[in-house]
Amino acid sequence: MLEILIATNNLGKVKEIKDILDSPEIKILTMKDFPHLPKIEEDGKTYQENAFKKARKISEYTGKICLADDSGLEIDYLKGKPGIYSSRWGSNDEERINKVLKLLENVPINKRNAKFVCVAILVFPDGKIYTVKEECKGSIEFKPKGEHGFGYDPIFLVPEYDKTFAELGDKIKNQISHRGKAMRRMINIINELAASEKT
Ligand code: IMP
Repeated sequence: MLEILIATNNLGKVKEIKDILDSPEIKILTMKDFPHLPKIEEDGKTYQENAFKKARKISEYTGKICLADDSGLEIDYLKGKPGIYSSRWGSNDEERINKVLKLLENVPINKRNAKFVCVAILVFPDGKIYTVKEECKGSIEFKPKGEHGFGYDPIFLVPEYDKTFAELGDKIKNQISHRGKAMRRMINIINELAASEKT
C-alpha cells in the first residue's frame, strides 16, 4: 500500500483529488494528519515551481510521498490573468469572482475564452519526482451560476455542456477538468509504482 500525502489546505481540492485517486493500492493522507506543518509561500513564477515547492517541502518535513497541484484560471481577454495569482486575487471566492466579472463587463461572449490549467507533482522523500500538466478550455459566464465546486467554478462555462463547473457538479467536473485529467494521469503513474513495489 502506497501512502500519499496531498499537500494542500484547499478542502475543495482535497475532496476532488480523494475522489479521483480512490484506489485499494493507495492510502491518502491529508495535511490534517500532520497538524504542525510549516506554512509554504506560493511565490514561484510558474505553476510548476509552486507545485514542486509545496510537494518537496512537505515531503522533506513528513518523510512521506507528497502530491501537490498548482492550478489557475487563465483568461484570454486579461492576457492570461489571474493565472498563478488565481488564489490571491481577492480575500475570498466571491471577491475573486466579482473582480473577474467587473474586468469583463461588456466584453462579448466571443472574447470571453478562458482555460483552467493544472500542474500536478508527485515527490518522493528520496527526491524522485513525476510531473503532469493538463488544461480545460471554456469561457467566462456573465454571472455566477450553480452551487457545486469551489473557487471560480460558478463563472467557468464549459461549452460542450453549456453549463458552469458549479452547475455540472463534482462527478462530471472531475471527468473533464484540468485537475481531473492531471490526477488520472498521476494515478496511472502511482499504480505502476505500486505494482512495481509488489514485485
Ligand atoms: P493554488 O493551486 O492553490 O495556487 O490555487 C489555485 C486557485 O485557482 C484556487 O484557489 C482557485 O481560486 C482557482 N482554481 C483552481 N482550480 C480550480 C477549479 O477547479 N475550480 C475553480 N477554481 C479553481
